[in-house]
Amino acid sequence: MKFFIDTANLDQIKEAQELGILDGVTTNPSLMAKEGITGRDNIINHYKAICEIVDGDVSAEVIATDFEGIVKEGEELAALHSQIVVKVPMIKDGVKAIKYFSDKGIKTNCTLVFSVGQALLAAKAGATYVSPFIGRLDDISTDGLNLINDIRLVYDNYAFETQILAASVRHTMHVIDCARIGADVMTGPLSSIVGLLKHPLTDIGLEKFLADYRKGN
Ligand code: E4P
Repeated sequence: MKFFIDTANLDQIKEAQELGILDGVTTNPSLMAKEGITGRDNIINHYKAICEIVDGDVSAEVIATDFEGIVKEGEELAALHSQIVVKVPMIKDGVKAIKYFSDKGIKTNCTLVFSVGQALLAAKAGATYVSPFIGRLDDISTDGLNLINDIRLVYDNYAFETQILAASVRHTMHVIDCARIGADVMTGPLSSIVGLLKHPLTDIGLEKFLADYRKGN
């Protein structure tokens, strides 16, 4: 299972990278705005800075919503760095653009996916990744993990190569449940990754080991 961090915060990206378990980064316009990164040039420079920190795929989202605009913007983003994955929304022109990028060997991440039908279309178009947003489904009293389960079933039925990127992960149990289901990737905040470290018995056990060591030394 690949671990992506879902942030545009460089310090948090560095922290996850230094842990040695980071496989990539996802961003979106809201995450950029949260870090105060606005304006085309600043956003482009920020993508480049992220690519310098991590070794894996970095999703960069297009703003255009028409086919020609998505293709133009996506090709510019892809040309920035070999690690860039063009993030395209699940809309009609987005599906067309994913097929176009796929034919050209440009990696894509189909974002804002909330149904199995959408995920099927993304795979048919040749998306590298499909991003079902589990947290946002949970927010509206719909089980997001069911969607991951259903997409896994459908993709396995036909051996689709599109990787299921469980997105909008909010906490550690989302990560663990996605791993149980067999999501290929998860993307979440730093807390959902480092939170996996924690267990009170680890802390108690370590404290006891160290105390016993100190007794004899
Ligand atoms: C996916 O790539 C999105 O950036 C993200 O996971 C959205 O998460 P949110 O619902 O917590 O905003």
